[in-house]
Amino acid sequence: MNAKREVVLGITGGIAAYKSAELVSRLRKAGIGVHVIMTEHATRFVSPLTYETLSGNPVVTDTFDRPATWEVEHIALAKLADVFVIAPATANILAKLACGIADDMLSTTALATKAPLLVAPAMNTGMWTADATRHNVDTLRARGVRFVGPEGGFLACGDSGPGRMSEPVAIFEAIQALLTARQSLSGLRVMVTAGATRERLDPVRFLSNDSSGKMGFALAEAARDRGADVTLVCGVTTAQPPTGVTLVRVESTQSLYDAVTARCGDMDIIIQAAAPADYRFARRYDQKLKKQSGAPLVLELVENPDIAAEVGRRKRPGQTLVGFAAETERVTEHAREKLQRKNLDLIVANDVTAPGAGFNVDTNIATLITRTGATERPLQRKRDLAEDVLDAVLSLRQTPPEES
Ligand code: PMT
Repeated sequence: MNAKREVVLGITGGIAAYKSAELVSRLRKAGIGVHVIMTEHATRFVSPLTYETLSGNPVVTDTFDRPATWEVEHIALAKLADVFVIAPATANILAKLACGIADDMLSTTALATKAPLLVAPAMNTGMWTADATRHNVDTLRARGVRFVGPEGGFLACGDSGPGRMSEPVAIFEAIQALLTARQSLSGLRVMVTAGATRERLDPVRFLSNDSSGKMGFALAEAARDRGADVTLVCGVTTAQPPTGVTLVRVESTQSLYDAVTARCGDMDIIIQAAAPADYRFARRYDQKLKKQSGAPLVLELVENPDIAAEVGRRKRPGQTLVGFAAETERVTEHAREKLQRKNLDLIVANDVTAPGAGFNVDTNIATLITRTGATERPLQRKRDLAEDVLDAVLSLRQTPPEES
């Protein structure tokens, strides 16, 4: 059980640094491993020995002589973290995180980690409301960083207003929620499709589309981070696929069909974000097709198999099937029709003509449609939409199927 529940806790220089002692105790009592990194300023408020004693692990600081392993140590901690927390987080660390500055152990490790990042700001009200901090907070939120607090009230500097670090119990609960989400697909096999397919006409020409693979990769990454055993079947992509998944490369819609149908029986959840070509050329030429001196060239297209519909036909109890609908008009109406026809549990409808949505961008705007309702999601990072899709999948899996 408890296979991997490790929290890296960054402590920056503020009077609230003492409050994190209670947070460390709570985490330890809950059986969660804690690894503390303190900035040099933080060590002026509380001794590293306090955190060393409470966490039962060495505290990493910049004030000690750097061990020979320093360079690898920050990477090791970055990789170890299931959740990376900074509490208290000063205006300074928020600015560094927003800009990607890595000039000490904490900022270097925070930049390197792939774990969800949770920050509990603590600072003077004027600093919290300053334009620069507002901008940094917006940047970090847009990047998926979670915030807990700050709370309003009397501050150590004598001012009153927002800026107090949240109570340790609130930070602990936020960490617990992230850890729980991280294990929410543990033991489940998830297959994700991503990218475009290519239908070859001759050795140099093909029919395809603009899918970069970003949406499917975000889903595969999010499922992997929630503990799933992920198979990623991808066509032609321009984005970099995630590590830690079983990667299957295909090119044509037929090869995507073969790869998906060969594996679908073993899967608990299948999410089809790929954009397969609906048609292929009736004839594929072995040599480059020559220009026909002004005469129109007529090429015949024949229909490709519908992979999602076939997976839907083979659906077995306990499986959850998710499709995407790439639409340019009457988005939800067309998506609902596909949900029914392909026997899906959930369809993610995106209007691929909307700015910031659809093909080859880092963001998307989608409506999550099930047989019983629809939820609109605003413009957000594809990774955040992926988390919403997985949350919707989990809630479907907890709801008994409807009598039909
Ligand atoms: O890769 P990105 O650049 O990040 O772009 C993301 C995306 C726009 C490709 C993605 O968000 C998306 O909408 N994917 C679905 C694209 C698509 O083929 O939509 P569709 O409405 O034509 O198909 C509906 C569903 O049937 C999809 O789940 C699709 O994978 C599937 N399908 C389609 C055709 C086919 N022959 N077989 C299928 O299984």
